[in-house]
Amino acid sequence: MNYVQAVEAPERNTGQIKLHDRAQAFAGMHAAGKIAAGCLDMLAAEVRDGVTTARIDDLARQYVFDHGALPACVFYRGYRHTVCTSLNHVVCHGIPGDRVLRSGDILNIDVTAIFDGWHGDTSRMYAVGDIPRKAERLMDITYDAMMRGIAAIKPGATLGDLGYAIQSYAESERLSVVREFCGHGLGRIFHDAPNILHYGKPGQGEELKPGMMFTVEPMLNLGAPGVKVLADGWTAVTKDKSLTAQYEHSIGITEDGVEIFTKSPAGIDQPHKTPG
Ligand code: MF3
Ligand code: CO
Ligand code: CO
Repeated sequence: MNYVQAVEAPERNTGQIKLHDRAQAFAGMHAAGKIAAGCLDMLAAEVRDGVTTARIDDLARQYVFDHGALPACVFYRGYRHTVCTSLNHVVCHGIPGDRVLRSGDILNIDVTAIFDGWHGDTSRMYAVGDIPRKAERLMDITYDAMMRGIAAIKPGATLGDLGYAIQSYAESERLSVVREFCGHGLGRIFHDAPNILHYGKPGQGEELKPGMMFTVEPMLNLGAPGVKVLADGWTAVTKDKSLTAQYEHSIGITEDGVEIFTKSPAGIDQPHKTPG
C-alpha cells in the first residue's frame, strides 16, 4: 500500500493512504469531531430505563441537524438511521427501533457527523441503571484498550504496533478482540484506506505518518471473539451471546504524535461510569 497527498487524491477510497498536510483539514476534522462528540454528550442525559433506541436516534438526528451537520449513516449503504445502538451482546451496527432500554443493559451509541465535508466518527458505552460488575469491567477495559491503541500512535510506529497495544492488553485481561470489524481511514470520505485492525504484531503493517487520519474502535468480548450478522443484514452479535463493548475515537497524526478529534467537550468521555 502506498501514500498519497490528500489534496492530490480523488475523493474516494483508492486503496492509497491519504496524507492531510493542511491545517484546514485538521481544523475541519476537529469541528466535525466536536459535533459528533457533543451529540454523545447530549445523549448521556437521555439514556435511562424506559427510553427506546428510536428515541435516542431521533435526538441524535436533531442534534446533528441543529449544529449544521449531516448524519453520515443516513442512506449509507441502505442504512436509515443517524446512530447505531448496540445493546449487550450486539457487537456493532445495532438498528434503533422500539426496543426499550432496561436497567442492567449496556449500550454502545455510534454517531458520525459530516460538517463542511469532514467526518467525525465516535462511539461510547452507556450503562442503564444498575449493571453487573463484569459489564462495568468490560467497558472500563475497552475504553482503556482504545486509549492504549491511541497512545501507540506516532510517526514511525506501525499499524501492527497499534493493534498489538490493544490486543495484548485485552487478552491479558482475559477479553477477546473482534476480528471481523475494524477502524478505518476517514476525512472527506467515511470509510477510507487503511483498515485499522485492533490486533497485530509489533513492527508489522504500514508505517504511521503525519497527516494520516483514521478511527480506533476496538470491540472486545467477554467470551469468544466470533461474531455473526443477523438476517437484517446489519446487527452483528457475538456467536456465544457473551457481552461485548466498543469505544471509538477519530484521530489525526501530527509531526510529534496524535490529536483526538472526538474528545468529549463536556468531559464525559466514559458515560458508562455514570449510569443513567
Ligand atoms: N459509525 C460506524 C463506524 O464506526 C459505521 C456505521 S455504518 C452504518 O464505522 F451504516 F451502519 F451506520
Ligand atoms: Co462509528
Ligand atoms: Co468508524
